[in-house]
Amino acid sequence: MIEVKNLCKSYGDYKAVIDVSFSAAKGDIVGFLGPNGAGKTTTIRMLSTYLPPTSGTATVAGYDVIAQADEVRRRIGYLPENPPLYGEMTVREYLKFVGEIKGVARAQLASRIDEVLERCFIKDVRNKLCQHLSRGYRQRVGLAQAIIHHPQVIILDEPTSGLDPRQIIEIRQLIKSLGQDHTVLLSTHILPEVSMVCNKVVIISRGRVVMESRLSDLTRDKSLEQVFLESVSHDEVVDAAACVNQGA
Ligand SMILES: Nc1ncnc2c1ncn2[C@@H]1O[C@H](COP(=O)(O)OP(=O)(O)OP(=O)(O)O)[C@@H](O)[C@H]1O
Ligand SMILES: [Mg+2]
Repeated sequence: MIEVKNLCKSYGDYKAVIDVSFSAAKGDIVGFLGPNGAGKTTTIRMLSTYLPPTSGTATVAGYDVIAQADEVRRRIGYLPENPPLYGEMTVREYLKFVGEIKGVARAQLASRIDEVLERCFIKDVRNKLCQHLSRGYRQRVGLAQAIIHHPQVIILDEPTSGLDPRQIIEIRQLIKSLGQDHTVLLSTHILPEVSMVCNKVVIISRGRVVMESRLSDLTRDKSLEQVFLESVSHDEVVDAAACVNQGA
């Protein structure tokens, strides 16, 4: 479902993503884990076709992110770091608008909107203007627009950022349930989030993938925490320790 090979991205002279390779199979929920500035968003933006790679290749749902970007866009649901809401629309109007753009059949649109309002816990704010939503609600509406068209692949950049603890639990449950019919890639800097939600982890540190593993392959002797702390670079250890201890 997602195949990334030797992906690189430079901003001027600065190499933000270096030779990144990993894969996600159908039904996987992959945690893309790394400290601030590791290259998560840059990689995710390339996979979502919003940023051209400097070199390397990536396919999503079987299509190349550069040569077949339109095909990729049709098959993914993407929640960027800042959800792309239109302030002057109500939540319901916005979801209707997004659903139409993403090709949800007219006859199913109303019921699909009701379903995502329910699943993302935003029924109560359906008639509020997007510009009046709090950060946590913006995030939830962002998630709703990412899944409204039943995409094969869902790519989420820090989906629980800005949510309160109760919302975090609800959204993590939602993401887990999405894994049943979708492939999910989510970035996070919160290690316990990966243990709770994902079945696979890809750790990125200073632009490089330093580990890719199924959580079931990690043993009791070698916990995710240990592997994470051992695999990040020396000068990221303090940041990485913060990731381990956050958001449990
Ligand atoms: N447009 C840009 N121009 C120059 N440098 C950039 C640009 N975008 C990102 N960077 C740099 O690339 C590196 C990777 O950034 P990126 O946003 O991908 O990290 P991240 O892992 O998503 O971090 P965070 O956890 O803070 O969201 C950082 O050093 C960042 O400063
Ligand atoms: Mg980021």
